Amino acid sequence: MRIAIGSDHGGFRLKGEIMEHLKVKGIEIVDFGTFSEDSCDYPDVALEVAQAVADKKFTFGILVCGTGIGIGIAANKVPGIRAALCSDTFSAHACREHNDANILTIGQRVVGTGLALDIVETFLKAEFEGSRHSKRIDKISQIEAKYYK
Ligand code: RB5
Repeated sequence: MRIAIGSDHGGFRLKGEIMEHLKVKGIEIVDFGTFSEDSCDYPDVALEVAQAVADKKFTFGILVCGTGIGIGIAANKVPGIRAALCSDTFSAHACREHNDANILTIGQRVVGTGLALDIVETFLKAEFEGSRHSKRIDKISQIEAKYYK
């Protein structure tokens, strides 16, 4: 499993904590920045991580900003990306099982470190259930095909 991770300044601390946690577990993780708490623009890192995940260079992406919202909105503009904002573990497995989410977004200002790490673990362990959910994912792809020329 290869993970691409990124954050803006609002998610910088939690990004580091998630990286430490995954490295201890032996999971390969590549950091796309940001690399300090200096102010930056979340769409820039969202684009880099989302592009790398859409290109299948990574199994999943993890994006962190203050709320997890802006960075997820930006990532979801990249065709093939299904970024899911999770602030609880139920959403973390449901977004994999039902929505085949390929990027997890988290808000550093929303959840504490312990819950965030549980969310990450839950997301990475859960599997897409396919079946009736596949045709819904196909319909999402059809929406992309309609608007992305
Ligand atoms: C940065 O202050 C903040 O707006 C950003 O991290 C994020 O919360 C945006 O959605």
